[in-house]
Amino acid sequence: MSAAPALAHRSFRRLHTRDLPRVMEIERSAYQQCWTEGIFHDCLRVGYECWAILEALEIVGYGILSIGAGEAHLLNICVMPACQGRGLGRELLNYLIDWADDRGALAIYLEVRLSNVRAQSLYRSSGFSEVGKRSGYYPADSLMVREDALLFRLDLVGEGT
Ligand SMILES: CC(C)(COP(=O)(O)OP(=O)(O)OC[C@H]1O[C@@H](n2cnc3c(N)ncnc32)[C@H](O)[C@@H]1OP(=O)(O)O)[C@@H](O)C(=O)NCCC(=O)NCCS
Repeated sequence: MSAAPALAHRSFRRLHTRDLPRVMEIERSAYQQCWTEGIFHDCLRVGYECWAILEALEIVGYGILSIGAGEAHLLNICVMPACQGRGLGRELLNYLIDWADDRGALAIYLEVRLSNVRAQSLYRSSGFSEVGKRSGYYPADSLMVREDALLFRLDLVGEGT
């Protein structure tokens, strides 16, 4: 009788500059229009909350959050394609929500592409509500078409205040 494979241990840690090659590998494989390495460098430099989720000590996803003036903004959340659909995105999102809450943020905002129904489903089922739309928010794709963003908000209790 073969033993069931052990569930890979998941953990979180802050991202460092040395992680950016791995982050860019995931970013390029997960998005058609992805962030540049320079954007991640800037996020680290200005002190945004840059977190990795790891499975068996390997980075499999990351999230970038800015927190200020009582509000948090989720700027990026991404799980490597081969690991999607296994609960990592939800676990990472919950971690970032708790982090923002503990630091006194009263709400967390994010933008999501109109076409990204998968991410929208994650946000809605995590309690986010659609509160607006930004026309032509995303840069033009190869067909020179810009895409609208939906703006989502989750109210927090501001545990850290
Ligand atoms: C969006 C993303 C972070 C979700 O991560 P994930 O690990 O795949 O998500 P999970 O396995 O935790 O699933 C969370 C929820 O997402 C939704 N979801 C997951 N797979 C889905 C699919 N194939 N179709 C529709 N919804 C799906 C479901 O609501 C799911 O909740 P449920 O399992 O309770 O039904 C991931 O798909 C990703 O990195 N996508 C590319 C980058 C991206 O679009 N980021 C968001 C930018 S706004």
